[in-house]
Order: sequence, then structure tokens, then C-alpha cells
Amino acid sequence: MTKTMRAVEITEPGGPDVLKVTERPIPEPQHGQIVIRVAYAGVNRPDALQRAGAYAPPPGASDLPGLEASGEVYAVGDGVTQWAVGDQVCGLLPGGGYAEYVATPAAHCLRLPKGMGLKEAACLPETFFTVFSNVFNRGGLKAGERFLVHGGSSGIGTTAIQLANAFGARVFTTAGSAEKCQACLDLGAERAINYREEDFVEVVKDMGGADLILDMVGGDYIPRNIRTLADDGRLVQIAFLTGPKVEMNFAQVMTRRLMITGSTLRPQSDLAKARIATDLAEAVWPLLDAGTVAPVMDSEFALEEAAAAHARMESSGHIGKIVLKVA
Ligand SMILES: NC(=O)c1ccc[n+]([C@@H]2O[C@H](COP(=O)([O-])OP(=O)(O)OC[C@H]3O[C@@H](n4cnc5c(N)ncnc54)[C@H](OP(=O)(O)O)[C@@H]3O)[C@@H](O)[C@H]2O)c1
Repeated sequence: MTKTMRAVEITEPGGPDVLKVTERPIPEPQHGQIVIRVAYAGVNRPDALQRAGAYAPPPGASDLPGLEASGEVYAVGDGVTQWAVGDQVCGLLPGGGYAEYVATPAAHCLRLPKGMGLKEAACLPETFFTVFSNVFNRGGLKAGERFLVHGGSSGIGTTAIQLANAFGARVFTTAGSAEKCQACLDLGAERAINYREEDFVEVVKDMGGADLILDMVGGDYIPRNIRTLADDGRLVQIAFLTGPKVEMNFAQVMTRRLMITGSTLRPQSDLAKARIATDLAEAVWPLLDAGTVAPVMDSEFALEEAAAAHARMESSGHIGKIVLKVA
């Protein structure tokens, strides 16, 4: 008889209330995969986009939401040598984290940092994979450079501020309230700009301009980011919260030798994600072990309260990460 588990599914595209608890079969590990008995699942903005019908899972991925989780290895598939049943891991998922069990490639999982519990560890994969690959691998941030990250109080932003700071960059950020700006300063930002009161273009240009910008806002931020970049600066686009379309003059890209790039994590190949996991294990896990960098925790909800967790995220009242307690 097939064993079943509790999971949260998206019953139809819509608001938080379309998230409902259901029963699903426990997944079997495929070649190279492990199945995690989930303790906690991280909540990310892309989950809300998927729920609203704006971010479909890639082919072959679970239709259940949830891009990261922590827990104990429950089963290992053929070819898995690095993990054994009972190991504690946190893993980047192709989907399916809002459930008691989830399957994911073994190479996308990492050990728990020293001294870190399962709750905090569940909040590492999605933002750390995204930030490291976009800021350092793609954006090439170096010590001493000026780095601007928008949405500094978000899951992505709080991670980016800490990592850029730890690797010796000068960090500037935008956030939507005085409280959020203070949280960004506490994490190591040199300057936090309340974008409702100040023009980030003027502030950052006065400080020499940004060598690298990580942007999730898009819309009119695109030409404003271009104006904010120093000569030879780079813009990395990871989302378009206010839309991807804008009319702009690209002449500055040529005359000031700017670079514009971007990426989304989820549709990348298993190999590409495994390479990011290897980079993180080498470059970032020692910082987590030492406590130099840590996830910023906002709030915890039970699995059954996934709708409330999404409502909290979409209210933008949060600072840092929201997590679901599954077991
Ligand atoms: N490309 C990828 O692979 C990838 C992976 C993961 C996440 N993402 C994207 O990264 C973004 C952050 O994700 P998350 O999970 O960390 O979500 P989140 O915590 O909900 O972050 C969204 C943030 O956007 C900020 N924001 C909204 N309008 C802004 C504006 N005009 N100026 C500056 N900040 C603004 C909000 O701050 P205020 O409340 O202060 O406005 C909030 O902190 C999302 O758009 C998500 O889709 C991309």
C-alpha cells in the first residue's frame, strides 16, 4: 500500500487561501536523489508567485510549493554516496517543500552549519544559492567594491548584505521603512536608504556610484540603476516586482562600459545547482559555522498555516525569513 503524507497544495491560482492541506504519496528517491523527512520548510517570494499562477514549476518538478527545507534523510536513491539515512541536511528543492517528505538531488543538499538548528538551516538554501551565484559568480563582486542591493530587509537582501560585507565589499541598500533600514545597518550595510523618502540614485552616486547592483524591483528602477552604476559597473536582475518593461536609453551602457545580466535559479540544470552547492560548501559554510553570517528569522507558522505565512510575506511586514514548521 502506498504510504501517504500531509502536504500543502495550490488548489487553483489565486490568493493565499488557495493553499490547502492535502494527502499525497510519499515520494520515492530517483537516481541521485534523497528523500528528506521535512522538519521545517522555508517560505520564499517565488512560492507566492507560483501560487498566483505567475511562476510555473519546471517540467518534472513537484507541483507542490516549497523551494527549500531541512530535516533528516529518510531514503537514498541509487548512486548516492554522500548522505545516509538519518543525516541532518538542508536542501535546495525543485519544489515540494510544503510537505512531510520531499525528494531532491543529493548534490543540492548541505550539512547543517555548526551550532545551527533545523529551523534556521531550512532558510539557507534558496537565498544563499541565489545570492552567491548572482552576486559573486555572475556579478563578480570583489573586496573593496561598492555594492547596492535593493530590498535589503528581504530574505534575499538580508543574505546579500551579510555575504557582501563578509567578503569585504562596501554595502548600500534600499528598504521601505526606518525599522527595515535599521535592520540592514545592523547586518553590516554602510548606508540604508529609505526609498520612500530618499532617492537612492543621488545617495549612491554621491558615494562614488555602485560597482554592482543586485535588483529585484525592475520597472523604473532599471534606468535608475543604470544611472547609479559607476563606470564599468554591473547590474544583476533577479526579479521584476514592479514589472520587466521600461523605455530607456541604452547609450550609457556603451559609453560607460556597463554590463546587464540576471538569472533565475529554479530552471537551471541539476549540474549547475550542484556546482553552486560546492561553491557554498567551500566559501560560505565556514562563515556560517563561525557565526559570521546567519539567516535573519522573521516568523514561524505551522504547515497548516501556509496561507497565513504567504499573507505575512505579501504584506511586506516581515524582515528576513518566514518558515513553516512541518514536524
Ligand atoms: N532569480 C532568482 O533565482 C530568485 C530566487 C529567489 C528569489 N528571487 C526574487 O527575489 C526577490 C526577493 O525574494 P524574497 O523571497 O527574499 O522575498 P521578500 O522577502 O518578500 O522580498 C521582497 C522585498 O522587495 C522589497 N521591495 C518591494 N518594492 C521595493 C522597492 N520599490 N524598492 C526597494 N525594495 C522593494 C520589499 O521591501 P519593502 O517592504 O521595504 O518595500 C521586500 O523586502 C523576489 O522578487 C523573488 O521573486 C529571485
